[in-house]
Amino acid sequence: MSPLRENDATTPQDPHVTLEAPAAPAGAPISGQADRAHFYNDKVVHQFTIATVFWGIVGMAVGVYVAAQLYWPALNFDTPWLTYSRLRPLHTNGVIFAFGGSVLFATSLYVVQRTCHVRLISDRLAAFVFWGWQAAMVGAVITLPLGITQSKEYAELEWPLDLLIAAVWVAYGWLFFGTIARRRVKHIYVANWFYGAYVIAVGLLHIVNNLAIPATLTKSYPLYSGAVDAMAQWWYGHNAVAFLLTVGYLAMMYYFVPKQAQRPIYSYRLSIVHFWALISIYMWAGPHHLHYTALPDWAQSVGMVFSVILLAPSWGGAMNGILTLSGVWHKLRTDPILKFLIVAISFYMIATFEGPLLSIKTVNSLSHYTDWTIGHVHAGTLGWVAMISIGSLYSLYPRLLGLEKMYSTRLIDVHFWLHTLGVVFYIVSMWIAGITQGLMWRATNADGTLTYSFVESLVATYPYYLGRLFGGLLILAGMGLMAWHMWRTRQLARAPAPHPVLAPDAAEARA
Ligand code: HEM
Ligand code: HEM
Repeated sequence: MSPLRENDATTPQDPHVTLEAPAAPAGAPISGQADRAHFYNDKVVHQFTIATVFWGIVGMAVGVYVAAQLYWPALNFDTPWLTYSRLRPLHTNGVIFAFGGSVLFATSLYVVQRTCHVRLISDRLAAFVFWGWQAAMVGAVITLPLGITQSKEYAELEWPLDLLIAAVWVAYGWLFFGTIARRRVKHIYVANWFYGAYVIAVGLLHIVNNLAIPATLTKSYPLYSGAVDAMAQWWYGHNAVAFLLTVGYLAMMYYFVPKQAQRPIYSYRLSIVHFWALISIYMWAGPHHLHYTALPDWAQSVGMVFSVILLAPSWGGAMNGILTLSGVWHKLRTDPILKFLIVAISFYMIATFEGPLLSIKTVNSLSHYTDWTIGHVHAGTLGWVAMISIGSLYSLYPRLLGLEKMYSTRLIDVHFWLHTLGVVFYIVSMWIAGITQGLMWRATNADGTLTYSFVESLVATYPYYLGRLFGGLLILAGMGLMAWHMWRTRQLARAPAPHPVLAPDAAEARA
């Protein structure tokens, strides 16, 4: 058995975990391609890590602002670019693609190098992926408040930005799979399978759903129309949730939970079943977004059935993550990073229990159009996506800097509580608000007239909007704290040195 090492720590053959391999001496000169090949490309990981925190703060601040507007509508100051309709897509694009995208780039490019024992195949391609993605995100920040939009949810950006995103994505795929192709071990660790599926699926979804005919630089018309357009859009919308907001983050779970717990993954076999079951079922669930619409009834039912079946692989995979802590549960008492990771998985279980429930047509007839959906969305995004990302970055960042840990464990704990309380305030407020709305809208008097006017339902839900706003402020404060904490940690590492690529064991090495 090989000695404890960082790189392949989570492969089934060598389930040990230790800190990063010793860095090269600070300031050691690295010149030329041949020299560089002996070290990981951590520059791009570092850049995306910083970008994640930056966009997290921007995207969530806009979320807090739109949450405040729902309570105090006058906050748009009668200014077109400050209106809710323009800022809402800015929030969703900011948190999903800028924040969520950046953390997926950061972690996937870190993990693929460590588990394949090889440097990324090209530094130039890596730089293009980073700067290209940032340019697309800045483009979103400019165009969305100007009202330039395709009006497709989560695919609002107009065609020039879509083209840029497609180019960056193809480059990213090349970088990721090219690195896997050059790996020095036979085995492809399961996290890379999940990252690989997310890279392929998101590229496919983006290109197919955005096929459009440009009319001007800022206006295009989709290739599809009517119910077909709706179906393509929600095939995209749902699978963006599935592959970007779920599969990519499950990859993070499979690398960072064992790493942080210093335990092998609970069941490697289960992780394989998890992978194939999830990717084969997810693609068919999209029609649950279109219940009681012009979409054929049978298609709606197919969406519902596949959504209900999804509960099984979702919970199976989640248990695989949680049970990785078997025998070391006590670590949860002292390690707030593990708390972030495990509570994230718990929120994932909540969202993936709630999702199949909401997909049942009779339940959806109550929940659709209400804030229950918004509660579900944020159980998934703030509970699962944001918490697994934050936990993974707290685990990764000191390693990148060659440090054993972040500047202060206590500050991570404070962040954990700010975030967890914030999410609970947010989602509980929205559950109560949503179910109240649904019940009030469907209540009828004996003579068949509606019991409540729409405004009465709005008044009834107002207090909960304040509850959500409070939760959002706690979460935003936590992100601010994280930014400061990372800056403080960065100061501890005076001259971060490059990390050498470790040679694989003879037994693992590729023939
Ligand atoms: C401080 C944290 C956050 C706050 C205060 C916040 C607030 C909001 C608000 C007020 C809305 C509009 C709800 C409505 O139209 O009724 C919204 C929508 C949304 N947010 Fe957030 N959000 C936060 C974080 C996030 C994060 C981190 C993500 C994703 C990673 C996210 C994803 C979404 C999505 C996808 C929607 C659209 C939901 C739908 O159309 O059903 N949010 N958010
Ligand atoms: C088994 C897993 C899941 C299923 C079956 C599922 C199902 C659903 C259903 C039925 C809706 C409501 C559709 C409507 O009435 O309009 C919905 C909305 C949504 N879910 Fe899930 N969900 C799952 C997991 C998740 C997770 C883990 C996340 C986030 C990470 C998430 C994010 C969303 C978003 C963003 C929406 C709002 C889409 C929109 O209308 O804009 N879901 N989901």
